[in-house]
Amino acid sequence: MAVIAERAIATDVPREASFNYLVVRYWLTALAAFFVAAVIGLVLRWNQASGFLSLAWHYRLQTFHGAYMAWFAIASVAGFVWLLIRKQFEIVVPRARMELVYWLLLAGAGLFGFGVLIGGFAPGFPILPPLPLNPAGAWAAWAVNVSLSGMVLIVVATIAYLLEWLVAAHRAAGGLGQALGLSVFLPRGANPGGRTVPPYVLAVTAMALIGMYALPVGAYLVANILLKNNFPAVPLDPLFAKNMLWAFAHTLVNILYWGTFGIVYLLIPVITDREWKLYRLLVILWLVTIVTTGMTAMGHHLQLDPVPFSIVVIGQVGSYLSIMSWAAVSIYGAVERIWKSGITWEPKVSFLYFGMFMVLVGMAGAYLDAGPGFNTILHNTLWVPAHFHSYMMLGMALFIFACMYHYVPLLTRKTDDSTALPRVHFWMTAIGGVGLVGSFYLAGLLGTPRRMAAYPLDALPALAGLVTQASVPFALVLALAQAIPLFYLTRMLVRRA
Ligand code: HEM
Repeated sequence: MAVIAERAIATDVPREASFNYLVVRYWLTALAAFFVAAVIGLVLRWNQASGFLSLAWHYRLQTFHGAYMAWFAIASVAGFVWLLIRKQFEIVVPRARMELVYWLLLAGAGLFGFGVLIGGFAPGFPILPPLPLNPAGAWAAWAVNVSLSGMVLIVVATIAYLLEWLVAAHRAAGGLGQALGLSVFLPRGANPGGRTVPPYVLAVTAMALIGMYALPVGAYLVANILLKNNFPAVPLDPLFAKNMLWAFAHTLVNILYWGTFGIVYLLIPVITDREWKLYRLLVILWLVTIVTTGMTAMGHHLQLDPVPFSIVVIGQVGSYLSIMSWAAVSIYGAVERIWKSGITWEPKVSFLYFGMFMVLVGMAGAYLDAGPGFNTILHNTLWVPAHFHSYMMLGMALFIFACMYHYVPLLTRKTDDSTALPRVHFWMTAIGGVGLVGSFYLAGLLGTPRRMAAYPLDALPALAGLVTQASVPFALVLALAQAIPLFYLTRMLVRRA
């Protein structure tokens, strides 16, 4: 059985330059995608305020933005997973396999981007069926083929690195049950080494396990859309396809978010010098989440479908249970450790702390929207991007930034005494982000529809137009800030030690 190193990973990394630089390469590429997608996000918001783009280009850019932001998360988490496997489990994954995942991800992003920007593929992201197949002349069949082939490569690469994790966790922890922390339920004395895995191993294992259900569903769906695109006689039920899409896409973003919460579990004990062990309540809440998110959380996408009422109820309960419990207890655990720990408020701590706060905001937004009463008002309004930008842009992405600011000096073996750049990055992201997300929430409450290049302002309260315009400077600050981590990583790479 391999080992699970205690906390050394967070304070040191072995002298293996080629491995370390590979991880930095994953992150640098992810940050480049993030920056481009952030600038495109700014263009989208600007266009909604002043209408300078054609409809075709707005929807292309919207599709590109959503997909590349998801890609940023997938590629960043991949770097984190390789780091944990190598340094924490002390397991060596052959270099060729890590390179293969990297190049598959890159090729997938390239193909998807080509199909969107050159081919005009613009059904939005995720690609809600049957729209990809019914473009009313807006894009050609080849654009669907190219974009979706890219998506298949990305899905395959993600399955590959999650499988690597499952195999490694199985070996290191002595079984997947152990990797999920089940040993906390053993009676005293029945767990010979007395060891339970740290919480981040549980979080990443949960991500990988549920990924094995969500990602094949996605691959199967995309393959079917591709088949239908080329052989129209092939049957594809639009309702079934729609539900498969949510089972895939909604679950995927949830699990990526679990993986990045592993960063919180890993870094908070190191920063505060206070241990964070697994305990029974936390494991139980994670198990509840695994079952509800994996199996039922997409159920709230069934409210308008002709399905038995009992299915809607199960989906609703699953949705409510899926995130609240483990996240609330974990955030409480993090704050408890930070409280009076005498830490220095370095930028990475600010990213983690503010990220956790925004996760709570996003969760509250999601809960309201998932309820049938509020949903009649908020359905398909800007409230939807408001809630997911709260915990993806101002939660998950911030955890990833904290991870990079923590590890890049260790991985490159170069010290960076100045925290000025990360600090500016934090404040610009926080101020710009709250302004943008706040505008989404308010506009959503005012009934502004989502996914529209131009709003029907005559049909909306006057405030809706003002809110849209006022949000542009915030989006500008937010987007420009994302050049900073890109610059920071590049500088660390090229600088002399
Ligand atoms: C960094 C600055 C960002 C800006 C300025 C921005 C802006 C926007 C705007 C204006 C929209 C269109 C909303 C609508 O009309 O429905 C949008 C949609 C979206 N954003 Fe962002 N966003 C940012 C970051 C992120 C991040 C970090 C993620 C995820 C990790 C993300 C994921 C998405 C997705 C999935 C959509 C939906 C696309 C679609 O409906 O087709 N965004 N964003």
